[in-house]
Amino acid sequence: MKYFLFIYALAVISIVSILGFRGTTFTEPPLEVFPDMDDQSKYKPQGASAFFADGRTDRMPVTGTIARGNLKDDEFFHFGKDGDAWANGFPMPVTSELIELGAGKYQIYCTPCHGGVGDGNGVTKFRGMVITPTYHDDRLRDMPEGEIFNTVTNGIRLMGAYADKLSAEERWAVIAYMRVLQRSQNASVEDVPQASRKDLGL
Ligand code: HEC
Repeated sequence: MKYFLFIYALAVISIVSILGFRGTTFTEPPLEVFPDMDDQSKYKPQGASAFFADGRTDRMPVTGTIARGNLKDDEFFHFGKDGDAWANGFPMPVTSELIELGAGKYQIYCTPCHGGVGDGNGVTKFRGMVITPTYHDDRLRDMPEGEIFNTVTNGIRLMGAYADKLSAEERWAVIAYMRVLQRSQNASVEDVPQASRKDLGL
């Protein structure tokens, strides 16, 4: 009987201590028998610090630090610049693959406003965005590719930026396709090879 009471009491205590406090919230930290490395003295990102004069735990990277893959030392490719001027032409060979890449991206990102042939008659025109310009005037035909690259990268006035949606190579590809559109809408008989003119009835 003595043993029974002892075992009974032990069972009640262990059941209550294991199950009895489930769901209860405590204000004190739990008792940790083996804390492992749960608690370490460290700073958490964007926390406060009394140690540094500016009160922040985050430190500025050393001057001149460049994130991996972000060196951008090719001014032409990354910024469309040639010294202080806008660069003319393309920083890579203009191949049919590049133009096809550009056509795909143009149709996704630019047609809604600039229209399938770049005349500014995209669907948004009929919803009120009437100021989208046509590519087919001398100002945009003569504009250096580098300046257009800057427009697509950073946006201009009412047009948004595309650097977060298109890689630098894709932006150049879109411009190559823009040039194709400009050429296609401003062609003369001289552009058609002699042999093909007959087919067009010329
Ligand atoms: C949401 C509509 C919209 C989309 C999408 C859009 N544009 Fe535009 N774009 C405009 C508007 C509006 C302007 C005129 C901005 C102004 O003058 O305020 C413009 C102007 C331009 C210009 C002329 C800039 C100048 O110097 O006058 C170029 C070049 C251009 N866009 C290229 C592009 C290309 C390339 C894309 C696709 C990557 C694109 N746009 C996507 C609305 C758009």
